[in-house]
Amino acid sequence: MVAPVKRKQDEFQAFYTNCDFITSYMIGLLKCENEISILEPCAGEGIFIDEIFKQGFYPEIRAYELNEVSCEKLKGKYKSHSNVQVKNEDFLLLLALFREKFDRVIANPPYGAFQTPAKRKLLKKEFPHLYAKETYSLFLFRSMEMLRSSGRLVFIIPDTYLTLHMHEGLRRKILSDYTIESIAMFPSKFFPNVNFGYAGLSIISITNERADKTHHFPIYNGFKNQSELPDLLTEKKKKYEVCQLSYQQIHKNPSAAFFLSSEKWISSVIASKAETVGNLCSVVTGFYSGNDAKHLKRSATVTRGTKKYTTINMDEICKDDFSMNPPLSGINGKACWVPIVKGGNKRFYKPSEWFMDWSKNALHEYRVANKKKARFQNSQYYFQHGIAVPMVSASSITASLIDGRLFDQSIVGIFPHAEYKKLTYYILGFFNSKVCNKLIRTINASTNNSANYIKKIPLIIPSQKVVNMVSREVERLIGLASNSNIHETQLEEINKRFNVIYNVIP
Ligand SMILES: C[S@@+](CC[C@H](N)C(=O)[O-])C[C@H]1O[C@@H](n2cnc3c(N)ncnc32)[C@H](O)[C@@H]1O
Repeated sequence: MVAPVKRKQDEFQAFYTNCDFITSYMIGLLKCENEISILEPCAGEGIFIDEIFKQGFYPEIRAYELNEVSCEKLKGKYKSHSNVQVKNEDFLLLLALFREKFDRVIANPPYGAFQTPAKRKLLKKEFPHLYAKETYSLFLFRSMEMLRSSGRLVFIIPDTYLTLHMHEGLRRKILSDYTIESIAMFPSKFFPNVNFGYAGLSIISITNERADKTHHFPIYNGFKNQSELPDLLTEKKKKYEVCQLSYQQIHKNPSAAFFLSSEKWISSVIASKAETVGNLCSVVTGFYSGNDAKHLKRSATVTRGTKKYTTINMDEICKDDFSMNPPLSGINGKACWVPIVKGGNKRFYKPSEWFMDWSKNALHEYRVANKKKARFQNSQYYFQHGIAVPMVSASSITASLIDGRLFDQSIVGIFPHAEYKKLTYYILGFFNSKVCNKLIRTINASTNNSANYIKKIPLIIPSQKVVNMVSREVERLIGLASNSNIHETQLEEINKRFNVIYNVIP
């Protein structure tokens, strides 16, 4: 039976790890002994300390806790334990003089906790290579520094340090001076009823030893629930191993990101000198009116949002071809509503079902009167030809054509540079392929396709003959998509082509 997990939040943005499976796994990983010293930099209710005792260890423990009330409770709780020292101090601001070394560190640090501007300034100075707004990385960095040689730390933290740009400094520090033993990844929904803004969590174990060049470590994933985590302390762990990451490979990845991939072709293409989408195309987010209820209309075929959005009349739609002369200062007359490509996972072609008010008055509102709310951004790409990728995908990434229409802010618009315009259909095919989906999910494990991740995808351009073959197939699928949805089975030809282009060995 799975024990209920309680993850409580207090005014210090504190989520406590009240889950036996997680605490027992983490303390198991820590490899405690009696004659050692352990640091708990943000002890909360002392859940890890309790687990250490429960597992029969009695080491020297130093616990820090910033919240005075929690700290008093901790002091009361452990007053009969002469080996536990509790301090009401800000761990991140410990003066160098007071930073001792410990054999072990265990923590569930605060994630993205609020800092006053003054404290943030101080932290920026203390941690110049880190992103000072994200507290968990500061706790990890400082704790690594406070490990004795060969000492070990175990942290439960969001998985964003694996790939996000802002954590490059942290990744490089770990790679240069420390050895990662393992990383286990699981969804934050393992903590029911708590939404703390992170999709994935991880438990990482690190030792204070410089790794040799050939070092690699396992990534565990695919747990059905929390009760499976302690399996990682047994022989069953192989079942959850999705890949081994090598330091050598990570060093070669852009911004030393930890791309999780068990497939060789992915590591090879990411580490290769292939062009990226960002090199060949402009990748930008689209337009927002600031008040869609007022400025957006739907066609009669749309069945959602019927209360919020009025139905458009055919004579209100402007039918001009804008691509040569985009109407960036608005349109005169009654027919001043323009088609806009919106989010939603439909492949190859989205018929025009949504229309934006593009009258001179409306433009004045977007650009001047309501400019704080509206987003009149990247307007040089409005009414151009390109590719629309929804910012958030359902299961797989999808893409459709932007054929001289407006595109909204839930879309990432991909516009091949002038010399690559002829590749538009080829790139549209690529964005609907399994190959592209695997690459973006490797670059960023969440279902978020923000422009920054899309830019990093390697884009291989094959011979003109192959480009033509793919483009013809895409043209056919665009035709089909205008009247119906494209199903996975209809993507066979596209998938086969890109498997060959990217050297995927099935
Ligand atoms: C996420 S909770 C975790 C508590 C405990 N380790 C657990 O897993 O249940 C983080 C704790 O860190 C404390 N905290 C926040 N900022 C701190 C700081 N700068 N120094 C020390 N403790 C801090 C909070 O008050 C909170 O109790």
